[in-house]
Amino acid sequence: MLFPDYRARRMRESDAFRRMIRETILTPDDFILPLFAISGKGVKNPIESMPGHYQQSIDNIVKSAKEAFDLGIPAIMIFGIPPKKDPLGTQAYNKDGIVQKAVKEVKNKVPGLAVLTDVCLCQYTDSGHCGIVEKNRIDNDSTLDLLARVAVSHAKAGADMVAPSDMMDGRIGEIRAALDEESFDNIPIMSYAVKYCSAFYGPFRQAAESAPKFGDRRSYQMDPANSKEAIREATLDVQEGADILMVKPALSYLDIIFQIREETDLPVAAYNVSGEYALVKAGAQMGWVDGTKVMMEMLTSIKRAGAEMILTYFAVDAAKELNKGNLR
Ligand code: PBG
Repeated sequence: MLFPDYRARRMRESDAFRRMIRETILTPDDFILPLFAISGKGVKNPIESMPGHYQQSIDNIVKSAKEAFDLGIPAIMIFGIPPKKDPLGTQAYNKDGIVQKAVKEVKNKVPGLAVLTDVCLCQYTDSGHCGIVEKNRIDNDSTLDLLARVAVSHAKAGADMVAPSDMMDGRIGEIRAALDEESFDNIPIMSYAVKYCSAFYGPFRQAAESAPKFGDRRSYQMDPANSKEAIREATLDVQEGADILMVKPALSYLDIIFQIREETDLPVAAYNVSGEYALVKAGAQMGWVDGTKVMMEMLTSIKRAGAEMILTYFAVDAAKELNKGNLR
């Protein structure tokens, strides 16, 4: 049907009509809130490039977790900043490590909230790399066993789901086997399946103190130029036993989210990363964009592209908007 028989504007005429034909509706159920845990008590260090986010001691992590839960957000993701780093990232799989303790405490105080953990070594290795360094290379296979240990230690602490973000080959299979071996066959794996080597991680590395000390992550994270490779990475992780496939970052990769959504029947998550958050906050602080509106538009487009879950630093702000009845 062509103009003038069809007029697209007819159904945009009133708020009621617009609501009736709206295809993508955000809810707090869509969000997973990332939190940064550090040792101490009463600690709440602002992260300069991520206004509204903090490195927090466990008492404050529990408060943030409770706030998220009360707003209807179903899950958080905990990242740890350990007191010391070493070549083998031993603090990552210490049973009394910062993440392990934070998980225990949150599960204790806010049992209904799902607690996910980031499984990686980069905050814990003195090299700042996501794997073990051997002869100036990031060694794949010797890293796998350590990642499996990290995942099992998180599960033992009570984590509801583990999310490996290291991008080593074969880690999903290795982690699945290790969890099963320890009778954690009920613990799902959210794979950072399609993780690009992105400049949008800048503020996170400041927050988590995890920037690489030499080189960059191009030998393990994906080239932003590639999309067929994304399908290959996702397919491998499906075969190895992933329960959820994540694409990261989100906004410059909406095409990838869409393709992964088409390609698989597993749930798809997208990580709306630190740099994406920082740009909006900075623009809003300058008065150049309406931060709230831009936030809602971005989150809506990530969901529209096909993500069922969005890891986002906006989770609390967006849930508050939604709970006020503001859909966009
Ligand atoms: C750890 C990890 C990173 C992020 C999540 N897990 C950083 C990186 O790969 O350097 C980035 C998250 C963000 O930017 O918000 N491997």
